[in-house]
Amino acid sequence: MNKPDTGPREPLSEPRTIPVEAFISPDYAKAEEKKLWRKVWLQAGRVEEIPEVGNYLTYEITTDSVIITRTSEDTISAYYNVCPHRGRRLIDTPPGERNAVGKKRNFICGFHGWGFNLDGENIALLEKQDWQGALTEARTHLTPVKVGTWGGWIWINLDPNAEPLLDYLAPVPEMLNPFQLQNMRYRWRKWLVFDCNWKVALEAFAETYHVNTTHPEFLQFGNFRGWSRSHGLHAHIGYEAPKEMDQNQAAKLRLGSGADARISTAKTQVFTWENANTNTTETLVNAAIRLKDELPEGTPPDQVLKHWLESARRVDAERGVVWPVVDPKDVGKSGTAWQIFPNFQIGHAVNNMLCYSARPYKGDPDKCYFEAAVYQLYPEGEAPDTKWEYTAPTDWPPVLQQDFDNMAAVQQGMKSAGFTGTKPNPYAERSVVNLHTNLAKYMGIGEPREYD
Ligand code: FES
Ligand SMILES: [Fe+2]
Repeated sequence: MNKPDTGPREPLSEPRTIPVEAFISPDYAKAEEKKLWRKVWLQAGRVEEIPEVGNYLTYEITTDSVIITRTSEDTISAYYNVCPHRGRRLIDTPPGERNAVGKKRNFICGFHGWGFNLDGENIALLEKQDWQGALTEARTHLTPVKVGTWGGWIWINLDPNAEPLLDYLAPVPEMLNPFQLQNMRYRWRKWLVFDCNWKVALEAFAETYHVNTTHPEFLQFGNFRGWSRSHGLHAHIGYEAPKEMDQNQAAKLRLGSGADARISTAKTQVFTWENANTNTTETLVNAAIRLKDELPEGTPPDQVLKHWLESARRVDAERGVVWPVVDPKDVGKSGTAWQIFPNFQIGHAVNNMLCYSARPYKGDPDKCYFEAAVYQLYPEGEAPDTKWEYTAPTDWPPVLQQDFDNMAAVQQGMKSAGFTGTKPNPYAERSVVNLHTNLAKYMGIGEPREYD
């Protein structure tokens, strides 16, 4: 018998509809610059991208560009990428690149030669006496930007009064610290420009409700119902586990659900490796392929799962790749992916992760930068040398191309006079409602509302 539903409801579990302005309005997009992007913590790169003093990278967010540089073995600093003299960008982004990277002892402006050390202090200024003492240290210093690190990422905040990074990220660090994400390194990273708003792009990955229709071939490996929960600024998603499986483990790594779990697990893993190149590693795929030789027919699914993960963990340990041991309760609780407000998603696991982010493109509400990166654990010093690769949609893994096919079509559909606002699934797409609930707090408009 069903229990009567008398307990407190989870936050945002009621049906809500979201007006389209946040997706299509040029005025809304313009207002985001000051009200949102200059107020929030943004993931701007990885710590390992600037390993040595003088290594730097740039990060662009709407009209602002930021230089992030290592100033000592354990200090990272960030500055607006603009020369205080007459406003030239100090570091240009090479044509066709996502951002600039390099190593310098000083930043020298290409216009009139003002120079700055890694601490942002002016160290070169031609004919300084002409200013008759007006050019104080403060007036010639690069403008600092708040910077912090968590999870192996560098985070910036353009608001000098921003709350501390870890307060902003809560409860994400508490949930994900056991996964030791800071030890993972890029396997690949790609970017492109979509013909849709940045929210359309991110929301397409912030729920699993689309999987059956957009990625129908995954149905052959099992049909797991997805959930989504709100955690204040942030949200997360996960899968309900089939009953016969360990709830905590199955929620984390997709185990095939065919009659023979050995075979279906191998099939799922090979398919995922070949068609998505995400959410698994070569070690996991090979361990899944070996299952049929290592286990007798009829081995129950939970035993197959246990053997598969133990064998992959052992093989990796032998080559110096030690997976963190995460309490199964924490694995289950953490779900499969976290939506970090406003524009970053971490799809975590013990030995790999898949992350997405999106940002506005040149102030156009109908365009965005979209980025995806896959990370995993590597033996010390053996991580591949990667860079952000601009990749045309047809050159992405096929599963991602299926997602990409929805982007421009959603953006166009939102503009139709026949569309009254999005209607996210209150159980599986709550992350979307969560995003707009928080956006409304920053923007002052666009709050998800009850249906008319
Ligand atoms: S604008 Fe940089 S030195 Fe003049
Ligand atoms: Fe998808």
